[in-house]
Order: sequence, then structure tokens, then C-alpha cells
Amino acid sequence: MTTTSITRTGARHPRAAIPSKPTPAPVEPRRHRLALAPAAVAASIDSLNQLLVDTLTLRDLYQKHHWQVSGPSFCELRVLFGKHHQEQAGLADQLGERVQTLGGVSIAMAADVAASAAIPRAPRFREDTTTQIERLLHAHEIILQEARTMARDTAASGDLGTNDLIVSDLIRLDERQVWFLIELIQGVA
Ligand SMILES: [Fe+2]
Repeated sequence: MTTTSITRTGARHPRAAIPSKPTPAPVEPRRHRLALAPAAVAASIDSLNQLLVDTLTLRDLYQKHHWQVSGPSFCELRVLFGKHHQEQAGLADQLGERVQTLGGVSIAMAADVAASAAIPRAPRFREDTTTQIERLLHAHEIILQEARTMARDTAASGDLGTNDLIVSDLIRLDERQVWFLIELIQGVA
């Protein structure tokens, strides 16, 4: 067994060393006897993990804007961004659990999410309200575009459970949140 020190340069307090095993190479999905073709399962896991990382990114974008919003619509926007953040967090949980249900391994950690996300990275500083909403709409558009392609693929491969999650939960939630943002931007612009 090897050990890994998680002490950071410049850290005020030394961190305890934690035991860890060398990172294993990616493995084939476990067979969960779901009466699905292995190729269909592998494709669904890839699609779900992409939707997962983009949903986690959108979730964090809503959290960022919930904290950083400012201006005349502060209260209204803060509540809405917080609500959408929670809904995206719930959706991410469903996507991650679906990956595991299929025998895959869901992407979870921030660095791995950032490495795979299709949504552009947001700046660290606070943006004005119109830019915040535009950035959210752009993120939703990216997710909806990839989700519709993946919904068609999963329908064709016979993975109807994944198809239902993508269509009934993800697409419908994202479309409803876009509607709310579009209505909001009328009042802000
Ligand atoms: Fe809050």
C-alpha cells in the first residue's frame, strides 16, 4: 500500500497523510443483467456522464449567481437562482445514480467535472445581471442540444430507462428553467 500526502504548499496546518491505492485504469462497466446490449450500456454511460458534468456545472453556475447577484431585482433573482440550483442538484443525483445503475462509474469531483464539461468556464469575478442570465441560457442550450441527441440514441439502442430520464426529467426541467429565465430577462434588459 502506498500513501499520499494531501499537504498543500503554503498550507497553514499540515494535513494528515491518507492511505491510498494507485489509481486503477478505467474498467469496463459491470454487467448488471438489465437485458441491454453491452454496447448500448457503454454508450449510455458515456452520454449520462457528459450530461452529469454539464448539469453539475450548470448547478454551480446557479449557485455562483445566487451568491453574487446584485441590483434592483436582487431578491427575486436570488430566490430563483437558488431554486434552480437545488433542482439541478436533484437532477445531477438522478444522472449519477443512473450511471451506477448501468454498472458505470459516475464522474463526481470538481476537477474531473471541469476537465470534461462542455459549458465554458465562468469568470471568478461577479458579472452583471444580464450577463449572468445570458450565461445561464447558453449553458442550458448546450445541455439541451446534447440531451436531444442522446435521447434519440438511447431510444434507438433500446435503453428506455435512460431515455426516460433524459426526456422526462432533464429536458423538461431545463426547458422550464429556460422559460423562467426568458421571462426574467424581459424585466431586466
Ligand atoms: Fe442561499
